[in-house]
Amino acid sequence: MTTGFTSTLIHNIGELMTQDAEHRVLRDAALVIEGERISWIGPASQAPAADAAVDAEGRAVLPGWVDSHSHLVFAGDRTAEFEARMAGESYSAGGIAVTMGATRAASEEELTRLTAERVAEAVSQGTTYLESKTGYGLDVENEARSARIAAATVDEVTYLGAHLVPAGIDPEEYTDLVCGPMLDAVLPHVRWADVFCERGAFTEEQSRRVLTAARNAGLGLRVHGNQLGEGPGVQLAVEFGAASVDHVNYLSEADIQALAGTWSGWDAATGTGIRGTVATCLPACDLSTRQPLAPGRELMDAGVQIALAANCNPGTSYTSSMAFCVTTAVLQMRLSVHEAVRAATYGGALALGRESGKDADGERAVGSIAVGHRADLHMLKAPSATHLAYRPGIPMTHAVWRAGVRAV
Ligand code: NIG
Repeated sequence: MTTGFTSTLIHNIGELMTQDAEHRVLRDAALVIEGERISWIGPASQAPAADAAVDAEGRAVLPGWVDSHSHLVFAGDRTAEFEARMAGESYSAGGIAVTMGATRAASEEELTRLTAERVAEAVSQGTTYLESKTGYGLDVENEARSARIAAATVDEVTYLGAHLVPAGIDPEEYTDLVCGPMLDAVLPHVRWADVFCERGAFTEEQSRRVLTAARNAGLGLRVHGNQLGEGPGVQLAVEFGAASVDHVNYLSEADIQALAGTWSGWDAATGTGIRGTVATCLPACDLSTRQPLAPGRELMDAGVQIALAANCNPGTSYTSSMAFCVTTAVLQMRLSVHEAVRAATYGGALALGRESGKDADGERAVGSIAVGHRADLHMLKAPSATHLAYRPGIPMTHAVWRAGVRAV
């Protein structure tokens, strides 16, 4: 090791699930972290010397989870709404207004602390790269504040002014605000924009306006679509070349084929070519809202790249557990363990446009373990990733490295 960075050798790894371009799973493996990057991977017997060493004692190592869909900047509690739902009520977008009120009422310090605590909770369970949306401010000042707080606490920020039309405001006027002054105010802090295209939220025409304005402002796009019923969300996401469409519970065959078509220029074996629209499945949300699980198996079989995300938010999915999502995807959505882990790591990176990156420009790839990629690693308390599904509900995180720094 000659670069001047401190290096750490992790050796005696029972199973190294790389999720790299060759989808390699290595046994009796080792790797070296140098600074924030992975600098060597290979058989434990050939491991080079390093400044420090960690004995994995046969445990499995995976890429850290990449959680590409969350709503972490909020205050307040919606336990009563959850209880009502468990007693038979159905979810509606209207609950967002309850969180909007509590979020606006919170001080900047409190909101920052709450957001940071949620990030820490996610990291403690193996999440190493995290997106959060705004969407509980819903006026210019409070959306800008949420975007600022998110930018200081998470890796990727998505503007979701188009989450709900606040009561008492004309929907068209509110859409103008979202596309104009509110967008201008959040722009310095965000890289993505999203729209909740659903009954009770934003119509197809309003969604189209939001996506057009965001694209013109240079933001990457994503859509909340087809969560509560079939609708135009998926088709809009495809038409606008969105990086992801999230929820995807109610899909027609035409929706699945449209998504598959976006991946026709992509070589799934090597992860190269023209990237399409990722279908992000949110199984914890589906269970908490008693919606049918997203058809992850069917999407994959059709050639669509999928991501799994926790969707941590107070209304539909108050969990940051990516392991729970992976377990559910295996047990209930018929993904293999390798497929589910890939969707929760590489798939999330793909949804965030961070699956590849140059070796030296500081924008390192996340979501897979390869030389030059960011050293985001999740060591399990188990010899293989299969234990995530084989032992559901058992905490499996033994150690976490985030950008080369030991976080757990
Ligand atoms: O992704 N569906 C829209 N947004 C959130 C839920 C927001 C809420 O109810 O507070 C979601 O599930």
